Amino acid sequence: MTQTPRSGSNDSDAKKRRSAVAALDYIEPGSVLGVGTGSTVGHFIEALATRPGLIRAAVSSSEATTGLLRAAGIEVLDLNELTGLELYVDGADEATRARHLIKGGGGALTREKIVAAAAERFVCILDENKLVGTLGAFPLPVEVIPMARALVARAIEARGGRPVWRRGLVTDNGNHILDVHGLSIVDPCALERELGAITGVVTVGLFAARPADVLLVGTATGVERI
Ligand code: 5RP
Repeated sequence: MTQTPRSGSNDSDAKKRRSAVAALDYIEPGSVLGVGTGSTVGHFIEALATRPGLIRAAVSSSEATTGLLRAAGIEVLDLNELTGLELYVDGADEATRARHLIKGGGGALTREKIVAAAAERFVCILDENKLVGTLGAFPLPVEVIPMARALVARAIEARGGRPVWRRGLVTDNGNHILDVHGLSIVDPCALERELGAITGVVTVGLFAARPADVLLVGTATGVERI
């Protein structure tokens, strides 16, 4: 799985790590935990690995995360074996203080949305540079059925977006991703509904209908809880 290019830095990495470590406090010991995808989640899994036995098992949002969890000695369960999850921990590409998110920079948005939907509580871990007033500076990922890619792209263009095919990426579900540029997302719930209704769209990378319940924002000095 490839990531949408983002300028990373040691500074940003330290903020990601701070937010990831803070998420450990939200875990009910002995529970099954939903785990997201990305570099911030990578820090979270590293932190989990230092607390053997804290969780009973995990449900994963991507093949990449499954590999990291297993390497950390954590059993990975099929979501279908469970009736629900107490907690989901995942990162984001952008977030507002209303806890609406853009996700999918790592291409795992569909499984991430599924695990988030199954969880009672969604704790989002991120560095402060991702906190925005209005979503949309980060191109909005939309997962599409491959044969519908051009059809969906035209429908998005008709709505004022500029979709760019993330060439070379096939998602864990065998689909393609369009990264939609040029959007200023003033009503995230409405746009999530509208784009999700286009035939051929699998998942829109807006997490607004089911937002995060808590943002743990890593800063230069600590973690802000929103
Ligand atoms: C993957 C995601 C990630 O949560 C998002 O891309 C943030 O990644 P990172 O923690 O590497 O900055 O949505 O599909």
